[in-house]
Amino acid sequence: MTTSADISPTTYDSRTPPRQHVLDLDDFSRAEITEILETSSSMKEILGRSIKQVPALRGKTVVNMFFEESTRTRISFELAARALSANVVGMTAKGSSVEKGESLVDTVRTLQALGADIIVMRHSAAGAPYLVTQHFQGSVINAGDGRHAHPTQALLDLFTIQERLGHIDGLRVVIVGDILHSRVARSNLWGLMTMGAHVTLCAPTTLLGPADYWTSTWPQVTISYNLNDCIADADVIMTLRLQKERQQTGLLPTLREYTNLFGITTERLKCAAPHCLIMHPGPMNEGVEIMPDVVTSMQSVIEDQVTNGVAVRMALLYTLAGSSRHDE
Ligand code: CP
Repeated sequence: MTTSADISPTTYDSRTPPRQHVLDLDDFSRAEITEILETSSSMKEILGRSIKQVPALRGKTVVNMFFEESTRTRISFELAARALSANVVGMTAKGSSVEKGESLVDTVRTLQALGADIIVMRHSAAGAPYLVTQHFQGSVINAGDGRHAHPTQALLDLFTIQERLGHIDGLRVVIVGDILHSRVARSNLWGLMTMGAHVTLCAPTTLLGPADYWTSTWPQVTISYNLNDCIADADVIMTLRLQKERQQTGLLPTLREYTNLFGITTERLKCAAPHCLIMHPGPMNEGVEIMPDVVTSMQSVIEDQVTNGVAVRMALLYTLAGSSRHDE
């Protein structure tokens, strides 16, 4: 039988307060991200076994509370919790008492009374997971809140980059597309900067906002309005979904013009280094921000990102459950 010692290559220093929540990467140190990535490698090894399950979270209850659509994040959290032998409950607004007008706070108090240990939460309102932490004694993982943060996506992106290129420190990463509306871009900025990467944000001005909005928080970030200028030096190109549901009209003249200037095409990638990775968090608008032949090209790691999401989310659940183990 696998013990927790088989899963965790490192243990918390007893002087380090255990982490209770994962809300964004702004409060993660480089050492803590490194530890999560190492634990994710151990989890990936478990997922490669014929029996992909260990008893680490037996007796714990994980509630996946998804109040906004999701495929990758929701299913990978469910698989991750099951691989750790947790009890898993899925919940959406539709079909729950939220439809009768129950507030978020009352919903969370109800989940606590029902014995939830960890709430994984997606919500269209930025900050909603922070509110939940004030009314829930267990752990909260932000699975995406509005345009604010998506820390587990950023961690799986970091894991995928490190797995493919061997390191993150010093890499040149271009994040291109609908940055203004992207929680993925914001959390990746915290994670990539903390791990020592050089980040360029590239978008039309209407999808980026004022440059000093970004440079006031991340002074080292480079701003570009021309994708062709960024490609040759890039080690990683992370393209983002054009978020039509979060946009007001008039930000783009036409989708065709956006694709012509900012779409990831085979032609455009002829200038890229052979080792340059192409990433996309999904879901994709194929033919808009990325062409189908790029998605399936040798440089694309988009499927790896999805696969690695399970291992990284296992590592996070394991780490947070470990924080409650300290109290036992
Ligand atoms: N990347 C991501 O969050 O995808 P889903 O919306 O499918 O979960």
